[in-house]
Amino acid sequence: MKNRSLVSIDDYSKEEINRILDLAEYFEENPNQKILEGKVIASLFFEPSTRTRLSFESAVNKLGGRIIGFTDSSTSSVTKGESLNDTIRTVSKYSDLIVMRHPLEGSARFASEVSDVPVINAGDGANQHPTQTLLDLYSIKKTQGTLENLNVFLVGDLKYGRTVHSLLIALSNFNPVFNFISHEKLRIPDEYKLILDELGVKYYEHSEFTDIISKADIIYMTRVQKERFSDPVEYEKTKNVYVLKNSMLENTKENLKILHPLPRVNEIDEDVDDNSKAYYFTQALNGVFTRQAIISSILGLK
Ligand code: CP
Repeated sequence: MKNRSLVSIDDYSKEEINRILDLAEYFEENPNQKILEGKVIASLFFEPSTRTRLSFESAVNKLGGRIIGFTDSSTSSVTKGESLNDTIRTVSKYSDLIVMRHPLEGSARFASEVSDVPVINAGDGANQHPTQTLLDLYSIKKTQGTLENLNVFLVGDLKYGRTVHSLLIALSNFNPVFNFISHEKLRIPDEYKLILDELGVKYYEHSEFTDIISKADIIYMTRVQKERFSDPVEYEKTKNVYVLKNSMLENTKENLKILHPLPRVNEIDEDVDDNSKAYYFTQALNGVFTRQAIISSILGLK
């Protein structure tokens, strides 16, 4: 992993994923270490973020490194017409590692090809969000004791949800059964179904929600991604179709955990938050330990 960019979850083998998860566990037990002293991490967010940006910043701060960058590209020379190529080539002269979120699919791969330093994809359009996936896997392993043979329900925007796309690929290493619950307009893209077919991973598609979740080990709720819709009417039609309520959890498995990459809009009622099966805020915390693990591996410090 040393000096390698993390653009897609495919960039890591099963062994490498397991190594990051072990390292995240180590950082959860030992969060404050000064191993990044003298290192500069560039954080370039061309799209809004709360958790990804701040958990990366928290991870770097806890490890004694420095952060430079922008949270809003309108304060950068992009507004003067500077290309992504020139921005990345320049910033890579100032930093040891670049963390980038960008609305265009493929932008992270492009950045990794022109950068002098490794690039971590913090989300590229509807494509991939590999560091979210690693923290999701860490959360699943911590709560289930294993990643193997789980019944995983993915609910909501399976078309545009980049966290779903990365998670599917990563979990396919661990013999899952997937249940996809979505509006017909927001189904999993065929390209991902083809990958699952090739890997021999079982999956089922549903449109109803309430009755079938009793079999779930993990329910992964997602927000309908308003910013990816070209037609606002389509968004209005699909946005509140699947809403998880506390009463729906009565006959679910003891080990069930509810995950959500967040932000949430309406898809999980606030009355779920106090249920012991709700795990999404701890999941967000796990992002700090996981990102400490990713940064220190890529920089060859652990
Ligand atoms: N999960 C996630 O990517 O959240 P943010 O958009 O707040 O970073």
